[in-house]
Amino acid sequence: MRTAQMSGRGGEKMTQTNLPTKTILIDRWTLSDIDCLAIGAFAPLAGFLGEEDYHAVVETMRLASGAVWPLPVTLAVDEAKHGTIQVGERVLLRGEDGVDYAILHVESSYRPDKRREAQQVFRTTDLEHPGVKKLMQKGEVYLGGPLEYLQRPVPEQFADYYLTPAQTREIFQQKNWKTIVGFQTRNPVHRAHEYIQKAALETVDGLFLNPLMGETKSDDVPAVVRMESYLALLENYYPANRVLLAAFPAAMRYAGPREAVFHAMVRKNYGCTHFIVGRDHAGVGDYYGTYDAQHIFSEFEPEELGISLLFFEHSFYCKSCEGMATTKTCPHEKSQHVTLSGTKVREMLRNGIVPPPQFSRPEVAKILIDGLSEKVRKA
Ligand code: ADX
Repeated sequence: MRTAQMSGRGGEKMTQTNLPTKTILIDRWTLSDIDCLAIGAFAPLAGFLGEEDYHAVVETMRLASGAVWPLPVTLAVDEAKHGTIQVGERVLLRGEDGVDYAILHVESSYRPDKRREAQQVFRTTDLEHPGVKKLMQKGEVYLGGPLEYLQRPVPEQFADYYLTPAQTREIFQQKNWKTIVGFQTRNPVHRAHEYIQKAALETVDGLFLNPLMGETKSDDVPAVVRMESYLALLENYYPANRVLLAAFPAAMRYAGPREAVFHAMVRKNYGCTHFIVGRDHAGVGDYYGTYDAQHIFSEFEPEELGISLLFFEHSFYCKSCEGMATTKTCPHEKSQHVTLSGTKVREMLRNGIVPPPQFSRPEVAKILIDGLSEKVRKA
């Protein structure tokens, strides 16, 4: 990681004077949260959740103020570290690379009921669930409070795509897009993604492709490969004047329905007026029903969400329709549908087998095959 001097929201340079002496070492996951907080992607959050907001989020999917916020964004420390830090202190947050990224003003220190958090947020306490596993591995005490930002992490690759919400909003304005649909993704882009993106684009001015670049579980496709495949797709199949591609620095939680609401709130911050939620959004394994991530939005009033949802059913290529379709639009039997499981596709790609063009664009398949074999070589 390289670093860039952080500018405040008003554009002023942050200086490194009066740095606190106490430090907390943060992992890559926490650093990606700090980055999202710093650029305003997690607005209205001004830092890590304090106790009152934490409970409100876990129990009601809202902050104590009532604003919609479905996922806890917390800073966990272990008992030993907690013993050295008092409420009211300022603490440096230092990355694994030794760089100080932010200062936490500790306003709150509390012990979460992690089983309750897991059940509420992930709808399970099963340790096989990657989000639950991660939660249980974290320290036992949460520290909450506002942040002061020192440096923004800049990745070695695709740095130009790490746009801030202020930048994307400005670009949308320059392009004179009044309606913009946001798309979250963590998987290799396939024809079903392309289909729902383009179907959505038919009804709005612009498409905001926002692949997640933070930590994912180890068998997900590496973020840089995901980005490369999008670049190939855009070059060959998308109208350049209607699409903006930008990296979403966050980590993946795999919280299914709640994460879909979170993803929508974040894309609203980036300036989107609409957001796509398809089948099993942010899901993993069989923990969530296929459309649970759509149903959850009925628990909110449209005004409090402030972004319109575009829901899509399971999409695929149908041999009888001779085109892309969904369970909503296609009358034919399953045997006519070209669908491949994620596991099957990964297996094919790892063995250098190109998936059928009805499933994946050949330009994308090539990048995925090269990317995965490189990953295998490095492993
Ligand atoms: S996610 O974890 O980021 O949701 P993924 O990249 O697979 O995973 O999905 C991105 C978006 O496309 C989500 O809204 C998801 O519901 C949707 N989606 C993925 N595959 C399909 C499909 N075959 N049919 C309809 N929607 C899909």
